Amino acid sequence: MSISHCTSFHSSSFSFSRSTPKEPFNAEPPRSALVSSYVTPVHLFYKRNHGPIPIVDHIENYSVAVTGLIDNPKMLFIKDIRSLPKYNVTATLQCAGNRRTAMSKVRNVRGVGWDVSAIGNAVWGGAKLADVLELLGIPKLTGFTTLGGRHVEFVSVDRCKEENGGPYKASIPLSQATNPDADVLLAYEMNGEILNRDHGFPLRVVVPGVIGARSVKWLDSINLLAEECQGFFMQKDYKMFPPSVNWDNINWSSRRPQMDFPVQSAICSLEDVQMVRPGKVSIKGYAVSGGGRGIERVDISMDGGKSWVEASRTQKPGRDYISEHNSSDKWAWVLFEATFDVSQSTEVIAKAVDSAANVQPENVESVWNLRGVLNTSWHRVLLRLGHSNL
Ligand code: MTE
Repeated sequence: MSISHCTSFHSSSFSFSRSTPKEPFNAEPPRSALVSSYVTPVHLFYKRNHGPIPIVDHIENYSVAVTGLIDNPKMLFIKDIRSLPKYNVTATLQCAGNRRTAMSKVRNVRGVGWDVSAIGNAVWGGAKLADVLELLGIPKLTGFTTLGGRHVEFVSVDRCKEENGGPYKASIPLSQATNPDADVLLAYEMNGEILNRDHGFPLRVVVPGVIGARSVKWLDSINLLAEECQGFFMQKDYKMFPPSVNWDNINWSSRRPQMDFPVQSAICSLEDVQMVRPGKVSIKGYAVSGGGRGIERVDISMDGGKSWVEASRTQKPGRDYISEHNSSDKWAWVLFEATFDVSQSTEVIAKAVDSAANVQPENVESVWNLRGVLNTSWHRVLLRLGHSNL
């Protein structure tokens, strides 16, 4: 395998809303484009990077070292991974910082200023991590190895400044990694195509239902560890702090690394302030919850939260979605829609309820945190009556 760490940052052909050339390549699509299909096309899928995007050549020599607290450490070549049963898992990936810009309006936060589109839904193709680990002698549904391994660390090829020039890394519990129903993948395909560079070619981890930060791209090695990964992005980032914590009193070790994401929804057919003509207005968006929990309801208010109407929900076009049903994709978002007659300017709100009856919090103030993560507050937009091309 040969790896180049390009000095310039990779840029996609679709540069909708992106960072400056001095920063890693981060991009999200316009919100209206995001919900135009259930499966997000690769070119519209958000990109989140912490360092330059590596180029991995000579794929036939590409291998993943599996080491640490395991009886039989081994190098796995791409052909070994491809020889295992292939699964296609439809799963929504969401950056923990999605909707950060709205949180920063309350008080300043640090991080990439995402709107509502640091999220996407793809069909990931690859081998189940549970099968890969079984190949190496770790049985399914195992919580610890004979040598005391309890966590599975994923180490990447890319280098980032937060790790002082070292690789991006993260871990998940071994019990999740060896559970076939958790659907953790070593993915080599996205939407039926070979994974592209932006999304982790030749091999990435996909941890469904968990914040995107744990789905490590450009996988280089897998380590079995006694404790969770001590990397920056597990220990000094992507943790949820209460609103009282600031940069002077923060104690990083007082909180666990964030894993599952909470219930979330956003209106995508309207901008934050949207001019419309009197008449019918269609409210469309996405709703999703972590941990494989389904979406029980999406409520829409057209009067600032005084009254609510339930929106229709779909995954596969033309079919109603039923939460927790066999026909539903448990790791994937649902798209919602409701149509209303509008005769005056008003605040429109969406809030979702998941299958455990978790509800999005009403106000962003109550979930404000200094890193601006997990803004899952009710999504509010203003409709102004006037001239519009809608
Ligand atoms: N993996 C590596 N190697 N380097 C990274 O910077 N970013 C993580 C995760 N995996 C990252 C990574 C974060 S924070 C997110 S949200 C997702 O990748 C984004 O995946 P995407 O760019 O394919 O959408």
